[in-house]
Amino acid sequence: MDKQQILNWLKETDERRLQELWSWADEVRRQHVGDAIYLRGLIEFSNHCARLCGYCGLRADNQHVTRYRMSADEILQCSHHAQELGYGTVVLQSGEDYGMKADWLADVVRRIKAETRLAITLSVGERSEQELQLWREAGADRYLLRFETSNPLLFDRIHPSLPGKLSDRIALLKLIRSLGYEVGSGVMVGIPEQSFDDLAQDILTFNELDLDMIGIGPYLPHPETPIGQHPGQYSLDAANQVPADVLMTCKAIALTRIMRPKCNIPSTTALATLDKARGRELGLMRGANIMMPNVTLSEFRENYQIYPDKACLHETAGHCAGCMTNRIAAIGRSIGTGRGDSPNYKKADDIT
Ligand code: 5AD
Ligand code: FES
Repeated sequence: MDKQQILNWLKETDERRLQELWSWADEVRRQHVGDAIYLRGLIEFSNHCARLCGYCGLRADNQHVTRYRMSADEILQCSHHAQELGYGTVVLQSGEDYGMKADWLADVVRRIKAETRLAITLSVGERSEQELQLWREAGADRYLLRFETSNPLLFDRIHPSLPGKLSDRIALLKLIRSLGYEVGSGVMVGIPEQSFDDLAQDILTFNELDLDMIGIGPYLPHPETPIGQHPGQYSLDAANQVPADVLMTCKAIALTRIMRPKCNIPSTTALATLDKARGRELGLMRGANIMMPNVTLSEFRENYQIYPDKACLHETAGHCAGCMTNRIAAIGRSIGTGRGDSPNYKKADDIT
């Protein structure tokens, strides 16, 4: 598909045509990654963050957040729990936390590898080559860093750089690949001032980066952020502004599946938050093949609200495991066993 065709689908309103898009994406998903849905246990291990992203509730200057950093033992406890629940991967996620030392995280990675069979995904922000390499050598398998939007002006406006350190997530993603990680990225749908053209370009950028995993969720306003407080100040005219709704998120997921058949695509928590009854299923039926149940210890969850009213905020890990199992069975799919590595991923030695 070229950009114009992607744009046409993003603007499509005809119900019958949209049904065709959903069936197409679902068929591509079935043929290339099958019916199994892989579950990744998400551990939100620190909510400290040095950055001031305009949309994110964990931004450094939000005084309403009680900051925490889990201990290595607590992270290990969550990892064992994830394995007991049958998950093949843990995702260690945090804010961009420079109080979290690279050697400490490398030790945590080594301990998880020594004590479990889990694959490890890191999602800890824009870090240095040295740190990324250290964690890779310690045994981390995958790295997640959404580029959020491919429009450089919009990116800069909503992600102020740290002093003396320009953000270039696209370059960083290429570096992450060169270190041998499976690479995940993604975007938000409906950020104020995101145009249809931007979103079409995002989907083309997934292709250019040859991503192994792609997370797509709706933008959800957080009242303690500048963009959440003044949406009108940023929004484009209605004909150009991408709506942050379930339909547009599903279109982006479906088009991404069609463009990247072998990629791992989660049905995101943000989508489940926007439509608590059906969000997870809609993602899975329109191209997604992954879910990321939260396994963070209950006492910390309340303080990891990148956006408000997050789905499953007050549920235990065990409850979500059961709930997801039922939802997966109800749509006639199965739960994947094993690590669920991306069929798109080529190990460095396989690249000739
Ligand atoms: N709404 C939706 N998604 C958000 N994220 C951060 N803040 C928000 C928000 N307000 C997403 C970003 C980030 C991921 C961890 O969560 O895409 O990469
Ligand atoms: Fe958490 Fe359903 S997945 S309650």
